Amino acid sequence: MLKHNFDELVNRKGTECKKWDTYADDVIPMWIADTDFKCPQPVIDAMVKRAEHGIYGYPVNCKTFEKSIINWQKKRFDWDVDIDWVEYTPAVVPAIVYAMRAFTNPGDNIVIQMPAYHPFHDIIPNNGRHILGNNLILKEDGSYEVDYENLEALLSKKRTTMFLLCSPHNPVGKCFTREELTRISELCLKHNVFVVSDEIHSDIVYGGSKHIPFGSLSQEAADNCVVCVNPSKTFNIAGVRTGAVIIPNRHNHDLFYAPLENNKAYGRTVFGTLPIEVSYNECDYYADQLLEYLQGNLEYLENFVSTRIPKIKGGTSDYIFPCIVLQQSNFAINLIFG
Ligand SMILES: Cc1ncc(COP(=O)(O)O)c(C=O)c1O
Repeated sequence: MLKHNFDELVNRKGTECKKWDTYADDVIPMWIADTDFKCPQPVIDAMVKRAEHGIYGYPVNCKTFEKSIINWQKKRFDWDVDIDWVEYTPAVVPAIVYAMRAFTNPGDNIVIQMPAYHPFHDIIPNNGRHILGNNLILKEDGSYEVDYENLEALLSKKRTTMFLLCSPHNPVGKCFTREELTRISELCLKHNVFVVSDEIHSDIVYGGSKHIPFGSLSQEAADNCVVCVNPSKTFNIAGVRTGAVIIPNRHNHDLFYAPLENNKAYGRTVFGTLPIEVSYNECDYYADQLLEYLQGNLEYLENFVSTRIPKIKGGTSDYIFPCIVLQQSNFAINLIFG
């Protein structure tokens, strides 16, 4: 089996890197979900081979991209995804905006759970919709719980038409259980609220917790959602600006896709889809070893904080995934928020 060297230090300065080329040299940037690990060797090899071909003309859709998404969802989460449910998107945040425009109207309310991934605070008002925030409840042990009572109050408001779920949740690192997701789904169905599930962090879940794709919960849930995925966090390929949506219901699929079709805004790129295909088809070993490595960092940090800065309270490692990875002097530390 291939083995990835997560200890390798790579200088990213001077590569137009948002993380390392934004600040002065004496600043250690720790704010973006972008690891400093090299991506898997099979991805690098495939990209080099494609680059050496020397012609980068218009690509045609041979469904290899869609098949790789199906492949990953099946082997990692046991979700049977149909090829017609999958669509290419230019990353996850634009996909959320497309969904918002397809399934809601200006002036509508969109529910998010607080604290929320910061672009959610921009894309909703930027598109003329209102944010309704449902605060996650911090428990004694550092984990978070959904406030169902308040959630239902927000979902039942007249102009609430969408719930933007972040599963697992960034920034608190909560991996929702089947029971929690089912309850959320039932509340959304009861109040006729469409669900967009951002599952970009689904691969990085620890300690016996298991990610459950929202669309796999039930037929009713599948018919009421768009699931957004991207291997960019796991394999450190966010710069290729490519992602995908999974939309099991045909009517919803067509509503989502019509504006892209009409505006000819579906153009994919050879260097965008290729790393995703190779990651999802060939790089389970990398995802597994990454998790093991990060788990070690997590234990290191928990131990360091509890012995050296005991007044800082951490969460439970069952729920926490690394928001940010800092690599320094041959070791990496996950900084945990929540
Ligand atoms: C919850 C969440 N959604 C989306 C994104 C960004 O996704 P993309 O680069 O595919 O737009 C991030 C990046 O940190 C994220 O944490």
